[in-house]
Amino acid sequence: MLVISLWGVWLELLEAIKGRRSIRAYRPNPIPSEDVERLIDCARWAPSAGNLQPWEFIAVTQESKKLELARAALGQRFIAEAPVVLVVCADTWRSASVYGLRGESLYCIQDTAAAIQNLLLTAYSMGYGTCWVGAFNEETVRPVLNIPRRLRPVAIIPIGVPGESPSPPPRRPVSQILHWDAYREV
Ligand SMILES: Cc1cc2nc3c(=O)[nH]c(=O)nc-3n(C[C@H](O)[C@H](O)[C@H](O)COP(=O)(O)O)c2cc1C
Repeated sequence: MLVISLWGVWLELLEAIKGRRSIRAYRPNPIPSEDVERLIDCARWAPSAGNLQPWEFIAVTQESKKLELARAALGQRFIAEAPVVLVVCADTWRSASVYGLRGESLYCIQDTAAAIQNLLLTAYSMGYGTCWVGAFNEETVRPVLNIPRRLRPVAIIPIGVPGESPSPPPRRPVSQILHWDAYREV
């Protein structure tokens, strides 16, 4: 019984990992705040260096702010179409307080990226589409959301019921990216 149920969970996990796509068109259906809370609840279970959890999530619903975020993201207009746009930040000071430069420049970004992937997979499993947007001007985003200097905005993530169903972009083959015992150019 336990084995069957674990196998079911494994299939669901594989389906989520492989079936999630970047969605760049959304239906206007609103997202209940409890659903946003559920996404953040799952994001926070990501691993983090020293369990410092240096992530902060700003949920944006105001139309004017969403438009400013789209502009800061080089005019990627689909961002403003999503009912909720999350801006995920890494607290550089939090990680630096224990790990110095490595914490500030590497761990806090890695930790936050892991939380983002949890969030994307959870959103997919709940029927929502997301897109990890990294192309934006950090300094333009800061004043829009009152983001202090110690926080680094890492990603803008529009969330909504999908308005498109794109095919999966190709992945590099395992034989090209897996290196047993030492790195070899393929
Ligand atoms: C760090 C990072 C930055 C990205 N920035 C953007 C972006 O600015 N705009 C965009 O449309 N997609 C962006 N993406 C999404 C990628 O284009 C997408 O993940 C990739 O093409 C693979 O497609 P898939 O997510 O559907 O598997 C970004 C993804 C990552 C991880």
